[in-house]
Order: sequence, then structure tokens, then C-alpha cells
Amino acid sequence: MKGTIHYCLEETIIKYHGEDAWTQVTKGAGLGEDFSYGTKIRDDIDEVQSIELFVLSANIIGIELSQLFDEFGEHWCVEYSPKVYGVFYRGMNSTKEAVTKLDRVHETVTNHIPNAYPPRFVYNWKADNVLELFYKSDRNLIDLFISLVKGLNKKFGDYTEIEKKSEHIVLLTFHQEVPEYLIENQLQAQKA
Ligand code: HEM
Repeated sequence: MKGTIHYCLEETIIKYHGEDAWTQVTKGAGLGEDFSYGTKIRDDIDEVQSIELFVLSANIIGIELSQLFDEFGEHWCVEYSPKVYGVFYRGMNSTKEAVTKLDRVHETVTNHIPNAYPPRFVYNWKADNVLELFYKSDRNLIDLFISLVKGLNKKFGDYTEIEKKSEHIVLLTFHQEVPEYLIENQLQAQKA
């Protein structure tokens, strides 16, 4: 997988858990104490090492993998990718617009890189704001995908209901703000 993912993970760990946590991870991964992915953004990193780096990092820091995915998703969408790939966000104002562009973005970013095989997305619109999305990747990182959608919500300040149907399908319902019926459901749950 492209080193850009690893460098964003490095920044995420430093941002949420401090420099020492990153040093522990690099030592634990056998990368050496002062290791950084900063100069390896365009490199191809071994697939197993890539996915294992997330798992190993969560273990070393002592958090659930899902928390690390959420932190990564937020950092990627709010800070890292707007800084590194700002052009893709030009004129974009919502999670819905960003998700709609995802397939093209991944194809464009990686189409000149011989060994990249980015995730692909197939869109099946059920209504104007309801999308059944097929995540096509052998890496089986749909949970990371979901965390990235949450990151887009943070970036655009809107709200998307995310329903995981399987390891390859999610149902997304886009809202610009939290819908009334969800607030009411929450109030009912608190009363019960
Ligand atoms: C400007 C925005 C973005 C750019 C430039 C970008 C680029 C990339 C690149 C280069 C990779 C590595 C692919 C490879 O090595 O073959 C990747 C992986 C991935 N991206 Fe993005 N991405 C962006 C936004 C997003 C967003 C918003 C989501 C989800 C909502 C997303 C979902 C994923 C997932 C799940 C992977 C992991 C690889 C896999 O599942 O196969 N990306 N992206």
C-alpha cells in the first residue's frame, strides 16, 4: 500500500498519543527508533506490513483498533488529505459530494503508479440522499472506510447515517444536520 497511508498513520499517532507513542510503535515494528514515513509517501509498502502496522500500533498504544481507525479517519479527512491532495476538495461542500467522487479520486491518484491497486467503489443510489455503496478491495478494510466517512462528516460538519450491511456493502444516508427522528430516538432511548 502507498506510503502516504503510513505517513498519515504516523501523524495520527503523534497527534493523539504523542511522539513517545510513535517511537514505541517504530521500535515494536522493528523499524528503528527515529524512523519516519515522511520521505516514503510515494513508496510501495508491503501489504502485510501495512495492515499489521495498524493492528500493532493499536496494541502498543493500548486502544481498540476501531478507535485508531476513527482517529486516522478524522486526521486524514480534516487535516492530512486537504493539505496533501487539496485539489480534490476544491468546490466540495459535503460528505455526499466527497463520497460521490471517491472512485474517481482513487483511480486518478494511483493510475500512474504501477503497483497501486486502490479500493474501487460502485454506486447504487436508492434515493436522492440514500446510497448503497459497494466497497471493492481485497484488503477487507471496510471498517477503515466507515471511519473515513465519519472523518468526512467532521470535515464538512454534516451527518451521515452509516449502516454496515456486509464486509463489502454499506448503506449511507446523507444529512446536512442530525435529523429530527434520530434526536427523538435518542431521547426515547434515554427515557427507557
Ligand atoms: C483526497 C482524498 C483521498 C485520496 C487522495 C486518497 C488516496 C488513497 C490512496 C493513495 C490509497 C492507497 C491505495 C494503494 O496503495 O493502492 C488509499 C487507500 C484507501 N482509501 Fe483513500 N483517498 C482519499 C480519500 C478517501 C476517503 C474519504 C475514503 C473513505 C470515505 C477513502 C477510502 C480508502 C480506503 C478504505 C483505503 C484503504 C485501501 C483499501 O481498502 O484497499 N479514501 N486512498
